[in-house]
Amino acid sequence: MYSRIAGTGAYLPEKVLTNFDLEKMIDTTDEWIRTRTGIERRHIAAKDEATSDLSEQACRAALDAAGLTPADIDLVVVGTCTPDLVFPNVACLLQERMGMSGAAFSIEAACSGFVYSLSVADKFVRAGQATRALVVGAEVMSRIIDWTDRETCVLFGDGAGAVVLEASDDAGILYTDLGADGRYRNLLYADSGVSRVKEEGETTLLMKGNEVFKVAVRTLEGMVDRVLADNGLEQGEIDWFVPHQANLRIIRATARRLGLPMERVVLTVRDHGNTSAASIPMALDTAVRDGRIQPGDLVLMEAFGGGFTWGATLVRY
Ligand code: UT7
Repeated sequence: MYSRIAGTGAYLPEKVLTNFDLEKMIDTTDEWIRTRTGIERRHIAAKDEATSDLSEQACRAALDAAGLTPADIDLVVVGTCTPDLVFPNVACLLQERMGMSGAAFSIEAACSGFVYSLSVADKFVRAGQATRALVVGAEVMSRIIDWTDRETCVLFGDGAGAVVLEASDDAGILYTDLGADGRYRNLLYADSGVSRVKEEGETTLLMKGNEVFKVAVRTLEGMVDRVLADNGLEQGEIDWFVPHQANLRIIRATARRLGLPMERVVLTVRDHGNTSAASIPMALDTAVRDGRIQPGDLVLMEAFGGGFTWGATLVRY
């Protein structure tokens, strides 16, 4: 028994913030942002749009693509580090709004949130504890960005992506690998929470970008080596690589390690920026809708983020 991806969906807020807009706000240039990250623009949620609102749009699109309705869903899992509220979790908010039933919970693993959520939902479906699951990655990162900090504010964007998982006898998720190392917690974190709060100001994302970069490349290279070895695959045997979209240079390094030309890598970082847990399901949806990813293709998704957390999922689409 496998769980297969029966439909994908995505939603991007309307407002676009370009590198040229950022040039007017802080001491940066379009050229610096493009060459260091590959990002040209990102979408920013409206004041009244929360993570559950973005998620709902992505979920409805995924259900439409699968030819299903909310009544067909009996598990909702949302990967996010920017929930609407402390609780109820975003999955419960979605469940109520869309009229779904069954278990509903969120997973906080920063940029790896979607891969973590997919891995957990896969186990529920394969164990027969859920028939059909909605798995979401959604973030409103713009709310925890310090818009005066040029080292972080040029990187992030908002958005949501979702997939429907359902039981299948043929193929689907073949392999998942999750990891974490909390010793790196100070390289990338949000500086205030609920039981540990700072004295003044809003919660802000802080990152030592260059150090994160080095560990990310090293960890992802190790992870893709493991994915290939564990699955008896040679370099170049993956049809489509759908990576977390943090930085084009990191993606290139990982693709090289996989022995894949960039034509087989799904890239959305230019138009979306780093949308944390939302980046992989939005990139997957892009390549499914434009017809690049076809049934039967071997697709590798991988992520790395705050914690540090990381994960990979190999899917026979
Ligand atoms: O999604 C979760 C995981 N996150 C990531 O994977 C992000 C990993 N890190 C990165 O993507 C990159 O490290 C960054 C894009 C954040 C930075 O690129 P970098 O090549 O590592 O640059 P750097 O931090 O070493 O900074 C180089 C220079 C510095 O100036 P000096 O000290 O050389 O004079 C920075 O002050 O670039 C400067 N700089 C900027 N200049 C113009 C930093 N941010 C900017 C900016 N505009 N926005």
